[in-house]
Amino acid sequence: MASKLVFLIVAVVAAAAPPFAAVADYVRPPPRPIIRSSLSSLPPSSPQQVHISLAGANHMRISWITMDETSPSLVVYGTSPNIYTSKAQGESTSYHYLTYRSGTIHHTVIGPLLDSTNYFYKCSGVGPEFQLRTPPSKFPVTLAVSGDLGQSGWTKSTLDHMAQCQHDLLLLPGDLSYADFLQPGWDSFGQLVQPQASARAWMVTQGNHDVEHIPVLKRGFIAYNARWKMPYQESGSSSNLFYSFDVAGIHVLMLGSYTDYDVNSDQYMWLKGDLAKVNRGKTPWIIAVLHVPWYNSNTAHQGEGDDMMAAMEPLLHAAAVDVMFTGHVHAYERTKRVFNGKSDPCGFVHITIGDGGNREGLASRYKEQPEWSVFREASFGHGVFNVVNASHAFWSWHRNDDDEPVMSDKVWINSLSGSRCPAKMKKKLRKLLLAP
Ligand SMILES: *[C@@H]1O[C@H](CO)[C@@H](O)[C@H](O)[C@H]1NC(C)=O
Ligand SMILES: [Fe+2]
Repeated sequence: MASKLVFLIVAVVAAAAPPFAAVADYVRPPPRPIIRSSLSSLPPSSPQQVHISLAGANHMRISWITMDETSPSLVVYGTSPNIYTSKAQGESTSYHYLTYRSGTIHHTVIGPLLDSTNYFYKCSGVGPEFQLRTPPSKFPVTLAVSGDLGQSGWTKSTLDHMAQCQHDLLLLPGDLSYADFLQPGWDSFGQLVQPQASARAWMVTQGNHDVEHIPVLKRGFIAYNARWKMPYQESGSSSNLFYSFDVAGIHVLMLGSYTDYDVNSDQYMWLKGDLAKVNRGKTPWIIAVLHVPWYNSNTAHQGEGDDMMAAMEPLLHAAAVDVMFTGHVHAYERTKRVFNGKSDPCGFVHITIGDGGNREGLASRYKEQPEWSVFREASFGHGVFNVVNASHAFWSWHRNDDDEPVMSDKVWINSLSGSRCPAKMKKKLRKLLLAP
């Protein structure tokens, strides 16, 4: 009887508890099994692992794999189902990795394309038909963001939630497949993400799990570069590991944490040239995306971003970047505008969102919360960056609460383009851009 009474009191108190108590009591989910999409039942000429990316103004790159060598790198497309008024021929590649031999990896650029338009397309000239939507050329524009995806049951949950949210494009700050040297894992990842990645541009940068370097035997990024070709040539970069692109009025810098970044590196030289060309009137927003966070109060991966931050933060700060999205830490954290280790009204907001749902699980231990850290939580989920106009963007983070997406953090972010900051830092930027 007494125990029943205690149970009743606990139940009543729990039901009446305000939402923040519910968040604190949120039970971290256990790992969910790995999903390995089966590809063996497909005929060799059947296009698989279809994904798309932006490839310069008004163009998109369609990437897919066939298991035969004879299928053409041909995409037929048009704005009505089953009526293909245009076609484009692309290129193909393949690679060996120890005993593994990849299928034929096709990359074909299509365009010029209309903005905010649905296109229907077929790869290698055969079925099935896929459908994509091009991003808008003006605000509003909505970017989904999710890092460290992997291919667990939680990944599936995150992908389902992203599919439900209206977005124009996905930013992925590194760690895609978690194949970790076992190459068929890249194929099953490609097939798992196909429903979303064949419909909206997936713009990715690399994480540590994408390196797969074996000393003496295999250089890094063999699978990543062959499969996830990004518009680096289109943006004047010499490497698939760093590039930039414009979408609506946003200039997006996709940077590499696992390639050289010191002030004499190719990446830094390219970044200077890229920033020198930014016209804030045309792209009022500047976003940077990379894998290893610079501001992180989780105990996981402490200090790993320090060297890159020392090399690049002054330049990105002087360029008045608005937001930086990172992954690596399997949790969510948002900062105030920061620079040089502390809050700064002309610094940028850092958002760590390495909580896509990979098999390694969550990073749930934190250091004492620094003054610059606003919100942090170790749960799987995804983010949505809705840029309403030149000055305002609404950021929200959606936790996978069991299998429901629940908006847990949200904030309006103002672009620095309308502030005093760019003028204030103009001299500093010039000096950094002109430095040899
Ligand atoms: C931009 O959007 C915000 C939020 O909706 C709004 O308050 C503001 O007036 C808009 N600015 C312009 C110039 O339309
Ligand atoms: Fe990582």
